[in-house]
Amino acid sequence: LLAVFPPRATLVGPVRVYLETFGCQMTELDSALVRGHLAAMGYRFVEDHAQAQVVLYTTCSVRELAEQKAYSRIGEVGVRKREGEEIILGVLGCMAERDGLDLLRRHPQVALLCGPAELDRLPQLIDNVRRARAAATAEPRGEGSIPAVRNASSRAVALAGNRSRRSATLSAAEDGLESLDLSRAFDPDARENPWSAYVRITRGCNKFCTYCVVPYTRGAEVHRPPEHIVEECRRLVDSGAVEITLLGQTVNHYRYTHGPAVTLDGRAAPQVGPGLQAFRDGSRPAARTTTFADLLHLIHERVPGLRRLRFVTSYPRDFGDDVRAVMRDSPRICRYLHAPAQSGSDPVLARMNRGYTVAEYEAFVERTFAALPDASLAGDIIVGFPGETDADFDATCSLVRRLPFKNNFIFKYSPRPGTVAIDRFADDVPDEVKRWRNNALLAIQSETSARVHAGWVGRTVDVLFDAVRERPAQGAVRAAPGTPVTLRVRGEDPALQAAPSAWQAVGRTRGDLIVAVDLP
Ligand code: 5AD
Ligand code: SF4
Repeated sequence: LLAVFPPRATLVGPVRVYLETFGCQMTELDSALVRGHLAAMGYRFVEDHAQAQVVLYTTCSVRELAEQKAYSRIGEVGVRKREGEEIILGVLGCMAERDGLDLLRRHPQVALLCGPAELDRLPQLIDNVRRARAAATAEPRGEGSIPAVRNASSRAVALAGNRSRRSATLSAAEDGLESLDLSRAFDPDARENPWSAYVRITRGCNKFCTYCVVPYTRGAEVHRPPEHIVEECRRLVDSGAVEITLLGQTVNHYRYTHGPAVTLDGRAAPQVGPGLQAFRDGSRPAARTTTFADLLHLIHERVPGLRRLRFVTSYPRDFGDDVRAVMRDSPRICRYLHAPAQSGSDPVLARMNRGYTVAEYEAFVERTFAALPDASLAGDIIVGFPGETDADFDATCSLVRRLPFKNNFIFKYSPRPGTVAIDRFADDVPDEVKRWRNNALLAIQSETSARVHAGWVGRTVDVLFDAVRERPAQGAVRAAPGTPVTLRVRGEDPALQAAPSAWQAVGRTRGDLIVAVDLP
């Protein structure tokens, strides 16, 4: 038994871990939570993967690029392993969930897979691999001893698989991920930016846009109890955060019904959302419900030390006037909406299963600017979706010219395994056309951005400066030389004082516009 389960003391100790993240903000938060969890258990994080005994890559699957980067890193670690180093290589997050056992088959150097819905189990998985390896290498201890287990499997896997879309009751009761969020580290040194933090309010997605892997890798929409969220924000602010970004794939769908879902220990449990009907008929269920607007208000009121409250990503449909009203009345909520349009053509939107038309998207933007004239709008656009004609693309260009997007992240469509689109539609827009459309749209977006930025010159804005950089050759929109800039600098950054005059302080307005000020 000792050979199979060696005493814990032989396995724990200051294990050195390297953790790298490829992909979206939700993936970054996954990594931050994993880091806090492992650090609390005595694992030590190192900056250089060559120094690490455990190498972990948390990887988003939404687009191919993040996965390609991770695969090339996996190859590099593979070389070290072939040279005889004992490394535990783990793949975490959506890529592990999506690629699953196939990834293990093709990459024998990967010892551990952990999907985004199972990250609370990671310490146990690492422990399992280490124990199995220790057992596999244990020498027989002579007569009477227990023979060493040389062929023990030394790989550990935790994937949600088809449980990722399990029933509401089960997912609420089994939600170990909530404990991962609850056990996050509040040490400012453990955060990449001590002044800025993510807090997730909703996990998963129920939208099933045809191109997207998220509903499969992250599972059904699950909403966290508001009291947990408020407490997390409060503790982050106590530990130095001045800006918090609430995360959800469809963040404005947040809706928590109090009462029915509690865990065995009596705590509130995360719960699966009520579905689209709740948004369609506009009625509130009899039970007390905390809507997204309520949650924003709650955080704004209960965490007065928080200077900036932001949220991403908004789903353009179902964005209620109640949210706009709370934003209007709460000065510390940023007037920034990241609400992807994805396309400016109705037939493409329909094939994407986005659930709105271009006219509805425009109405959403119009209502937003009517309620919040100082709002700023950003989005995502996919070019080269199957069947996208020149006319469809022109319609997207026209949307980007018409609406005041401060920026758009523009992506070339890539067919993702497991999605509806990959089965239903041929990827029929040639890559060079996708590339051309991407560049053409970027150029149009630059013009739109310049117009939006120019509209801000001369206005008084509150900027959170968070970086100092060398002054680039030219800025996007420059105020006329001599325009007075009044700076009230909070806090003292030694870099600011040491910076030579060719440097700039760089920060963001509440609308996420980037502002650079030449340092005197
Ligand atoms: N191909 C290209 N872009 C995609 N996105 C999601 N899936 C794909 C895909 N298969 C983009 C969408 C989404 C953003 C996070 O990534 O624009 O809003
Ligand atoms: Fe993916 Fe659509 Fe959900 Fe966004 S709303 S995560 S694009 S399925």
